[in-house]
Amino acid sequence: MSAGGRLGRASVIIAAAGSGSRLGLAAAKAFVELCGHPMLYYSLAAAARVEGVIELVIAVPPGMERAARAAVSEAGVALPVKITPGGAARQDSVRIALELTSAESDLVAVHDAARPLAPAELFAAALADASRFGAAIAAVPVADTLKRGQAEAISATLSRAGLFQSQTPQAFRRALLLSAFKTAQERGWEATDEAELVERIGGEVRLVKGSPENFKITTPEDLAMAQALIAARGRALG
Ligand code: CTP
Ligand code: MG
Repeated sequence: MSAGGRLGRASVIIAAAGSGSRLGLAAAKAFVELCGHPMLYYSLAAAARVEGVIELVIAVPPGMERAARAAVSEAGVALPVKITPGGAARQDSVRIALELTSAESDLVAVHDAARPLAPAELFAAALADASRFGAAIAAVPVADTLKRGQAEAISATLSRAGLFQSQTPQAFRRALLLSAFKTAQERGWEATDEAELVERIGGEVRLVKGSPENFKITTPEDLAMAQALIAARGRALG
């Protein structure tokens, strides 16, 4: 059995290098305060408790390295943590962080700092399926009816059968993710999640059950919703 236990060893990448332009605040999104902690704190605390995780690699906006280190201390993370400036697009940030992951890791999970409500169990589930199948992402079935439209008129109603919303964490065998990013780099592929790059090199990606609570904070309304949910959790815990 490896040091990481049944699952093998895993590195967790936290993508936190975005500016949060749609949130419209002065601070970078991952450092916006949420119930007394920077948003990044919640992902660090969850990822650090997952069995088999041997390190965290955080991509932050250039100049925010010290603030990230402070969030790591605040979250009481005892694991080795690497902090790097991210890139222009999310995919660049993840690629830079991936290059810093330890070759000791069999698995890599990628998570958005903008999803502070992801529980440790969701990381564990994605890593377990990635270990078995190669790749696994958190996702939720589409609940609303989907319309295609232009300007203010509908041109079609789409079936939502078999449609999922992709979330993070997204977990992969490290060698598979490295190979997907290498091919993407060579061919100039751009994608909004890692799974798409793995799909494009022919990898099978499994779905693990995410939750509506694991939404991505994009707008001020999302921030208010996350605040309410975290405050309610705090009350439930007494
Ligand atoms: N991200 C990143 N590097 C970038 C852009 C985004 O690491 N160059 C991260 C963000 O920090 C976030 C996640 O990717 O945790 C999802 O991106 P998104 O929600 O779009 O965040 P922002 O890009 O910061 O927000 P916006 O698009 O509104 O500017
Ligand atoms: Mg963005």
